[in-house]
Amino acid sequence: MNTSNNFKKNTVKFLQQKKDNKQKISMLTAYDFSFAKIFDAAGIDILLVGDSAANVMAGFNTTIPITLDQMIYHGQSVVRGTKKALVVVDLPFGSYQISEAHAMEQAIKVLKETNCEAIKLEGGLSVVPLIKKMIAAGIAVMGHVGLTPQSIHQIGSFGVQAKDDKDAKQLIQDVLELQEAGCFAIVVEKIPAKLAAEISQITKIPIIGIGAGAECDGQVLVMHDMLGMNTEFNPKFVRKFIDLTSLITSATVEYKEAIEKGSFPNADEAY
Ligand code: KIV
Repeated sequence: MNTSNNFKKNTVKFLQQKKDNKQKISMLTAYDFSFAKIFDAAGIDILLVGDSAANVMAGFNTTIPITLDQMIYHGQSVVRGTKKALVVVDLPFGSYQISEAHAMEQAIKVLKETNCEAIKLEGGLSVVPLIKKMIAAGIAVMGHVGLTPQSIHQIGSFGVQAKDDKDAKQLIQDVLELQEAGCFAIVVEKIPAKLAAEISQITKIPIIGIGAGAECDGQVLVMHDMLGMNTEFNPKFVRKFIDLTSLITSATVEYKEAIEKGSFPNADEAY
């Protein structure tokens, strides 16, 4: 908690109250100081330092390559830019699969070095024992089920998950076990809207959807998708709230032309 200002940080209790009061929760990814500052001032409830940083910041085609130290660097930058939003940092692939002891060390390292409020990890029943240990140690944990990009080579595609009855039942069981284990919220990614609505109905904790329809307790998008900075990624669940690619391109072309014409800098812009 940052005690050097007058802002009260959002807490997991605050998020629970939002669910209880049927108020929608807003969550957005952030990876750096400057954007975190803007999103925080705009009132976003949760900033997620997603391992999608591997895609949108580093240009990899999966989230697998990003390291714990790289996540910590992004997490530190976001925390420095945030006064109010609850900051969640993703545990990257390899940081919680080796052993419970190793996973605990990695999660504690993230909390100590970034000063974030919570961590997120992917998986259902298989991560429940680990999550119970984390909760017992005082760590706030967000779950993540449905499309779990860290397992992409096992899943085989980025398509919609849990479409048949058997997978839907399994997903519901995963969610209920994660809730029972003590997760304060769960992300459900790319699952049918009807299933996400049912999950949001039967759970006590907030369910945050991405590509999971409107009936979730909250929504999350990757910032580059929401801002129209990712021209090659156009799944139907992404709404581009602005076309930053066009705006930034125009400004950059104008800047280049002004340099070439000699109109930048002008007399007022020089010492
Ligand atoms: O890494 C990420 O950005 C995420 C969101 C897609 C939920 O996990």
